Amino acid sequence: MKQLNVDLGDRSYPIYIGDGIIEQIGSYFAKHQISSRSPIMVITDDNVASLHLKKVTTHLLESGYKVVEYIVPAGEMSKSLSVLEQIIGKALDAGLDRTSTIIALGGGVVGDLAGFVAASFMRGVKFVQIPTTILAHDSSVGGKVAVNHPKAKNIIGAFHQPQIVLYDTSTLKTLPEREIKAGLSEMIKHGLIWDAEFSKWIDENAEKLLSLDAEALEYGLYNGCKIKSHVVSEDEREHGLRAILNFGHTIGHALEAVAHYNQLLHGEAIAIGMVGAAKLSVRLGYPERIYTETKAAMKKYGLPIQIPGHLDIDEIMKAMLHDKKFKEGKVVFTILKDIGEAHIQSGISIDLIREIVEELRWEE
Ligand SMILES: NC(=O)c1ccc[n+]([C@@H]2O[C@H](COP(=O)([O-])OP(=O)(O)OC[C@H]3O[C@@H](n4cnc5c(N)ncnc54)[C@H](O)[C@@H]3O)[C@@H](O)[C@H]2O)c1
Ligand SMILES: [Zn+2]
Repeated sequence: MKQLNVDLGDRSYPIYIGDGIIEQIGSYFAKHQISSRSPIMVITDDNVASLHLKKVTTHLLESGYKVVEYIVPAGEMSKSLSVLEQIIGKALDAGLDRTSTIIALGGGVVGDLAGFVAASFMRGVKFVQIPTTILAHDSSVGGKVAVNHPKAKNIIGAFHQPQIVLYDTSTLKTLPEREIKAGLSEMIKHGLIWDAEFSKWIDENAEKLLSLDAEALEYGLYNGCKIKSHVVSEDEREHGLRAILNFGHTIGHALEAVAHYNQLLHGEAIAIGMVGAAKLSVRLGYPERIYTETKAAMKKYGLPIQIPGHLDIDEIMKAMLHDKKFKEGKVVFTILKDIGEAHIQSGISIDLIREIVEELRWEE
């Protein structure tokens, strides 16, 4: 078992990572003052409910907690105001109050949704994350919680830090292979932007991580969370440094949008985006190895590196520049100065970015 503290003054919280820690949920809750006076609500999705909800509920009941379950349909569509309203209706009917705790049991979708329920119900109640995807090592650190609006993703939200995060690596064993790879894509990102040594470790341990070796997962998730938490502690509200976490995301988000959020998983889209951002870094004069090593990592992990043929380049450029501040044909981009060293560079020409996006069509 590994423990990590996310350092945010009086909003600091611990992340526990290990195999089977759900079994000790009662003692973690007692240690972190999760009250058993009023009911606790566990929010999850229908996939995770059938696999992991029973054990969470059973251990909570055994520890003397009153539990209310809320199951949403799996998928991004559940991050909506109407689902939020229904959950709050159930919370009121079940007698939750200001001292209640909301638990997110699931991936980033459930984490963002349940976190926003916790942030808004009675102006904010305690929140606990039990992440069940690899990608959620990213979303469980930093306190960004949100639902979507039909016009934009994550646009209705808040910053709401959890009380604790219980990362039970045994839950990851039921993940589909494609979700495993896509989740590891964010872990690769954390190495690339911050820690060359961790990047090297990720490269050397691909087989173990892809086969969900417990020890390797614990170490990888711990380091991924640690890097994110380091960045977030220095810049909780994204005034500057936090933007380096967007490495690969400018192109990645555009690809997700043009593919209508249903063809590419987030981790797959940012894998292509990272290859693009690495290419851009080299074009701006930084070492060639940034591109060769980034691309090799994606290939090793079975992640895509090429923009699918049916996605229109004009549409991608439009989606990308839509939410980018740009002046006189110049934009700001997160690039790498070297492996393990990210940097936010302004004044990059849109023509150069277009060239790179066009090349990504033929990457192999
Ligand atoms: N708040 C943040 O900082 C932050 C950061 C990154 C991503 N996100 C958000 O996270 C979401 C993506 O997260 P995700 O990739 O975890 O998606 P997800 O929550 O949709 O999970 C992916 C799929 O895996 C299934 N699943 C989850 N756990 C499982 C398990 N243990 N076994 C089998 N199936 C399981 C889910 O039902 C779903 O179908 C997006 O909405 C994104 O906006 C938020
Ligand atoms: Zn991401």
